[in-house]
Parts: sequence; structure tokens; C-alpha cells
Amino acid sequence: MERIILDVDTGTDDAVAIMMALQSEDIEVLGICSVNGNRGIDNTTENTLRVVEYLGYDNVPVYKGCRFPMVVTLTPNRRECFPYKGPKDPKDNVHGDYLELPAATIKEQKDHAVKFIIDTIMASDGDISIVPVGPLTNIAMAMRIEPEICKKIKQIVIMGGGYRETNITATAEFNFWIDPEAAKIVMQSGCKIILVPLDATHKAAVSKDLAKEMRKTGTKACDYAAEIIETRWNGYKTWQPMEDVNTVPIHDALAVSYLINKDVLQNIVYTHVDVDISGGISDGQSVCDVEKRDKEAMPNAYVALGADKNLFEQLMLKTLSKKERK
Ligand code: RIB
Ligand code: CA
Repeated sequence: MERIILDVDTGTDDAVAIMMALQSEDIEVLGICSVNGNRGIDNTTENTLRVVEYLGYDNVPVYKGCRFPMVVTLTPNRRECFPYKGPKDPKDNVHGDYLELPAATIKEQKDHAVKFIIDTIMASDGDISIVPVGPLTNIAMAMRIEPEICKKIKQIVIMGGGYRETNITATAEFNFWIDPEAAKIVMQSGCKIILVPLDATHKAAVSKDLAKEMRKTGTKACDYAAEIIETRWNGYKTWQPMEDVNTVPIHDALAVSYLINKDVLQNIVYTHVDVDISGGISDGQSVCDVEKRDKEAMPNAYVALGADKNLFEQLMLKTLSKKERK
């Protein structure tokens, strides 16, 4: 059983990741932290609560996290688009401002997400994994406030970065780009890090026919995941078509799937990953030294360059077709 803290900027692919984590028999979700990312913090928190309530996991606490990236918005012209509102062309928009689920009636906890992360990790026996699938602001803040947590985190399974694949600029992946300094702090933390970059999530892009299979199961989780696959496919086919145009990435769910079955990630390289925080044209780029050119650089991450698409689809279908709580 993996005990995890999930950190999300919900978001459609985050929603599938949350549903998989809640429904999996191999995962115990200790709490879900929201962060600024796909949308502002009030939206990502409300979206998170909507997903949790939709599946009836009202007992799983949700904590609101950081409203702002660490420092990136302070430099004039470095980020003109805060909070992020999605692609300019609305037809490419795969998240919407709010998820199309009933408004939440449950509330987030009083404590801040960063406090929850610190308290929970410090009180643990070193058996808790953190799974951030949004910008790394909450995790980096927790590490800055209480560096001792780094010794007690079992592992951090991050959806973020890219080796050869990018999505928000010519050089950067969205989660790292939203808060590059946070990404750099986490990469330098000394924690065991499994990095699930775009190179892996694009290889695991799911077929839009999976949505049909999911609808046949009739569970709420499958119904909603099917809707998300279709919405995302409609956006991605023009915004960022995959090599197989009939597929679409569900990035964040791949990171959660790794906690269910490690074989879902492939071609894992243990190497040094750094993050560009220069504010230049490569701002937020994850620099993965896969070819090990820098002989001085110590490896700090297991970087997955591939993924088993069929296994990922099976895991999604199996986990989400479990009967929900209500
Ligand atoms: O680049 C993909 C990532 O950015 C996903 O986590 C998505 O939800 C957004 O946060
Ligand atoms: Ca996300």
C-alpha cells in the first residue's frame, strides 16, 4: 500500500489522477493539496473539492495551497499571464475555468497545504510519497520552511518537465514553467525523485476509443474520465496533436499509475536534472542530462523517457471501473 500526499492544480488530467488515486486499492490518499497552475488557486481548489465529492470521498481532506509562484511574477515581463487562463484560442482549451461537475458543498481544511505537508511528513516514519502533478510551489515552500522533511519523504513522483518534449514554450513544460524556482528547489532537495516528463506522458497518450470502453462500465469515475478524454482529445487535436492523432495525453494520471504498477514507466534513466531559472528564452526548461555529458553532475532523478500505453489504459479502466462510494 502506498501512502501518498497528492498535490494538484485541477485541471482535467489532474481530475483523472485524483479519481485513480482515490479508487485504487494500492493507494491511501492522506490528503490532497491544491496549488496555482492550470487556473488560479480558488479554481483549482474548488475543482479538487468537486472531484472528491463527486466520488463520495468526503473523508479525504483537501488543503488549499499557494496562490502565487515563488518569485517568477516579480520580474517585469517574465510572466505576463498570471493566473494562467489557458490557450488563447478557446477551442484549444482543455480545462475550462471550472470542471463540469456540480459545485462543491464540502470545504477545504483550515490549515494551509504547506503546513499539512510539513506536519504530515515530520510525524511519519518515512513511508509517505508525495505526488505533485502541478507546479511545485507547495512542495518547495515546505522544503524551505522545514528542510528536515527532505530526509523523511519516501519519494517524490513528479509529473513535470520534458527531455525532448515541451508544451508551453519552445523549451519548457507547463508545471516547471509556472514556477521554475520551485522546480529547481525540489530537484536539488536530495529526495528520491521519479520524474514523469512529457516524453513519458506523450508515449502513454490514450486512444479516444478508451472513452467508449469506459462508458460501458457505467461507473461515475469512468463516465467522467470518458468525458475528459473526449474533451481533451478535441482540444489536443489542433493545439498539440500527438504522433497518433487518435490519442491524447492524460499526463497526471500516469504519475499516479506508477504507484499502482511500476511497469507503466519505461526507459528510466538515473541522471542529473536541472531547471533554467534565467528568465530568458529557456526559462523553466528542465535540462535532463540523459547522455551524461556533465561528468561532475550527480544524478538526482529517475527520469522516465517511455511508458507502456496499453498497461496505462488497462490500469485506468480497471481502477476507475471500481464501484464508487455513493
Ligand atoms: O504539462 C502538463 C501538466 O501541466 C499537467 O500536470 C497539467 O495538468 C498541467 O498542470
Ligand atoms: Ca496538473
